[in-house]
Amino acid sequence: MNIYKTQVELKEAITLQSPSKLGFVPTMGALHDGHLSLVEKAIEENELCVVSIFVNPTQFDNLNDLKKYPRTIKKDADLLKTLSDQILIYAPNAEDLYGAKIKSSTFKFGPIAKEMEGAYRLGHFDGVGTVVSLLFDAVQPTAAYFGEKDFQQLQIIKKLVEIKEYNIRIVGCDIIRETNGLARSSRNTRLSKVQFDEAALLYKTLQEVKQKWQSSSILDLNGFVKNTFEKHHLLDLEYFVIANEATLKTAIRKRNTNTYRAFIVVTAGEVRLIDTLSLGKG
Ligand code: PAF
Repeated sequence: MNIYKTQVELKEAITLQSPSKLGFVPTMGALHDGHLSLVEKAIEENELCVVSIFVNPTQFDNLNDLKKYPRTIKKDADLLKTLSDQILIYAPNAEDLYGAKIKSSTFKFGPIAKEMEGAYRLGHFDGVGTVVSLLFDAVQPTAAYFGEKDFQQLQIIKKLVEIKEYNIRIVGCDIIRETNGLARSSRNTRLSKVQFDEAALLYKTLQEVKQKWQSSSILDLNGFVKNTFEKHHLLDLEYFVIANEATLKTAIRKRNTNTYRAFIVVTAGEVRLIDTLSLGKG
């Protein structure tokens, strides 16, 4: 497997193959089936595929979360090899990507960056925007693949492409779930068996919200989710929001011309879990 630690080596390897289409999957490692589905799509649609593995310090608002983020590069490389041994892995240290100053740039992402994750994790999207633009500059892909679990992040990346005028196609991919419905995430490995089982409640609740969507008001649905988690002693609801899917603005009342999406964030002990489900028209 080809693991490149520096941009110079990576660029040399890409130039050597001069692919007409280069697919890119940025990750923070601890790969799971969700990542693998993105890589599969990137392989399918391109001549060459690059996967980056880099736990980006500037997007963490919680130092403990950064410290505890799983780092499993050897296992990640083995997993990628099961898909293809032609994948190029870029696994830099922070200095190779950022240079001497490991610091976020600030972006004018507009109102979408102020909602949900933007409000709860200050500086998070500037960190994501910074690392993704550094990675795009290093890899110069034709297309880049992101999971819809981080739906707001996906919209931020699309905005980043607009701001920086990148000629890169951004591909959003379906959420891959555990058998109990929990969205696949690198953080799931930090859950105890009991927490893992109980965390099925996130998706179950989102599905119930979808079932009730046509016959209930947003106020009632917010109350339903709040009550569901209030009774639960292992899962703490950080937020539940129904938002306009296009603007990500929190919705209070439905309009039948708009499309809506539910967003949920819950913590199980120290582990933060995120999920989302499209609800359709109002
Ligand atoms: O979604 C992620 O894993 C990260 O936010 C990303 C896009 C790799 C940037 O560090």
